[in-house]
Amino acid sequence: MERTFLMVKPDGVQRGLIGRIISRFEDKGFKLVAGKFVQVTPEQAKRHYAEHEGKPFFDSLVSFITSGPVFAMVWEGDDIVALSRAVIGKTKVTEAAPGTIRGDFAAHTPYNLIHGSDGPESAEREIANFFEPHEIVAYSKTITPWI
Ligand code: PPS
Repeated sequence: MERTFLMVKPDGVQRGLIGRIISRFEDKGFKLVAGKFVQVTPEQAKRHYAEHEGKPFFDSLVSFITSGPVFAMVWEGDDIVALSRAVIGKTKVTEAAPGTIRGDFAAHTPYNLIHGSDGPESAEREIANFFEPHEIVAYSKTITPWI
């Protein structure tokens, strides 16, 4: 079972979209196994976005993600990294298709509401940057074998 790290960014928290964003992933059939509010520190933000260090937007990226609380989550599901990014939509809101979270709710890049890991390895690294192993809950969904 693949895992991913999803994070409602400060704009999503301020706009009261946590519940609706979580519903998108529950509706898809994914399993939420950890979630909490975090006031991200600059050090934690720099670790999270380390691959973008040196890019022109790096400082504003760190500044944005530390500007208010985020809602950090771990989700599980088959092929969840790729499938959750499809649910999220494209980074630039002008390219995000209707039906995606960003396409439906985001109107200004880079205030694109949610971060999703871009690969299984970055997911494990990002999860470790936000969660202790004991905060991730193992449980089975027994009602349907097909989700
Ligand atoms: S790249 O260079 O193509 O890999 O970058 P991209 O995937 O487009 O964006 C990576 C993350 O940086 C965010 N971003 C910004 N944040 C703040 N200010 C500016 N100008 C900016 N430009 C891009 C973008 O939303 C991505 O965030 P995450 O959290 O990974 O979705």
